[in-house]
Amino acid sequence: MTDMKRVTIFDTTLRDGEQAPGCSMTLEEKIMVAQQLERLGVDVIEAGFPIASPGDFESVREVCKAVRGPVVAGLARCVKADIDRAGEAIAGAARGRIHVFLATSPIHREHKLKMSRGKVLARAVEGVKTALAYTEDVEFSAEDAARTEPDFLSEVVEAVIEAGATTVNVPDTVGYAVPEQYAEMVAALMRDVPNVDKAVISVHCHNDLGMAVANSLAAVRAGARQVECTINGLGERAGNCALEEVVMALRTRADVYGVETGISTAQIMNASRLVSTVTGVRVPPNKAVVGRNAFAHEAGIHQDGILKETTTYEIMRPEDVGLERNKLVMGKHSGRHAFRERLEELGIHLDDERLDRAFAQFKVLADKKKDIYDEDIEALVREEVEAAPETFKLVSFHVTSGVNVTPTATVTVEVAGEGMKTDAAIGDGPIDAVCRAVDRITGIPCQLEDYNIRAITVGKDAMGEVSLEIRSNGRRERGRAAKTDIVEASVVAYVSAVNQLYQWISAGRPKGEKPHGM
Ligand code: KIV
Ligand code: ZN
Repeated sequence: MTDMKRVTIFDTTLRDGEQAPGCSMTLEEKIMVAQQLERLGVDVIEAGFPIASPGDFESVREVCKAVRGPVVAGLARCVKADIDRAGEAIAGAARGRIHVFLATSPIHREHKLKMSRGKVLARAVEGVKTALAYTEDVEFSAEDAARTEPDFLSEVVEAVIEAGATTVNVPDTVGYAVPEQYAEMVAALMRDVPNVDKAVISVHCHNDLGMAVANSLAAVRAGARQVECTINGLGERAGNCALEEVVMALRTRADVYGVETGISTAQIMNASRLVSTVTGVRVPPNKAVVGRNAFAHEAGIHQDGILKETTTYEIMRPEDVGLERNKLVMGKHSGRHAFRERLEELGIHLDDERLDRAFAQFKVLADKKKDIYDEDIEALVREEVEAAPETFKLVSFHVTSGVNVTPTATVTVEVAGEGMKTDAAIGDGPIDAVCRAVDRITGIPCQLEDYNIRAITVGKDAMGEVSLEIRSNGRRERGRAAKTDIVEASVVAYVSAVNQLYQWISAGRPKGEKPHGM
């Protein structure tokens, strides 16, 4: 039943990616990402872990309604309550999958599960059978397979296939594997499991030693026909196998791997940027395939070669991954309609209210900055997508700083239900002073835990994007803003983070917290 030429791309950005610290997404953001994954052409979208929280359940259910092409999977432990919840969540999918998992390695059996081999085997089979009551498409994952005894792994794989699993995943849960060994593990399954042709063998690699992509590729050579991966390599700890890297490696080196995927690679940049926008996790400039420098040629000799013949230094064409560098998109005469269309092309959908606010910001920017690029628009939208209700709204600020003067800031904030409030403070520098003045107004003293600034595009008039993290009462929140004035960007980002914090304080519960860990 396995098509030996085609590798299934199983994206788990919305599950393994989203469960990483600082990567949580709202329902609206998950739907946007799922729709972009559909445009990208992924075969399976793992949309969440329905038993983990009502929010996870809801997002799996809504993703099932929002995409009709890809299979939508819900994760479940081999526990009836989990499987029932996953079954309920995927009920509305055009094609739904239940993905059950149970650890098989001796370390997990002994210390975590306290179960014998026999019990693990029986529970795995029972999990698959329970899931089959909801769908014919059942995936079983032998958690920590890479550290499981080969004979036991073969036994489990054979038993779950016999029970009806159509995909069997053998994850390197802790990122411990190296390519030769991981490939050998898959090759042994292909060789030793008598019914292996009745299911797709899948791999899911974590990146703790930086080998997630290499391990996944080695497994494909050994016969694996599903790769689990995430956009930008998000995921637990050091992350997962990066979709863009594994897909481009399979395509660029088809001579070595001899397989294909259904991915529309020209959608890769949009997917990468969208995921970065909604999670706030920035892509490092040197990141393979999607980093800012991935197609930048700096050395004179390289530039000379590229001008003569691009293949001298380029193994992939930027357009193959959907990169149109610094594309000038809009200017001050562009209208709301064109602005919305450009956002849609970037995979970003805003409701009318948010669109109006982002468009108003765009007009302000267009008055200050002549050339507006996709990156500028994405930065503006990031603020809108992340924005919590504005309990505190910055109205104005004034700051003095210089050599041999005490940095001083005066800030006016509109406080919901209380009107305008103005206060002043001094600080170590202008940013410290404005943040202290804001604290005096809000009455929520916060520590600035992290502060980063970067130019969004080139040129002296480029916007500076400030991304910061504050902490108060043990709670951390992030804020981000992009402005041509970097002090303004700092105070807007700070107020945005305080608004998030206020939401959490007034709700009396941690945002996105999941009652069940894994
Ligand atoms: O890393 C892992 O083992 C997982 C499983 C649930 C597939 O994420
Ligand atoms: Zn994982």
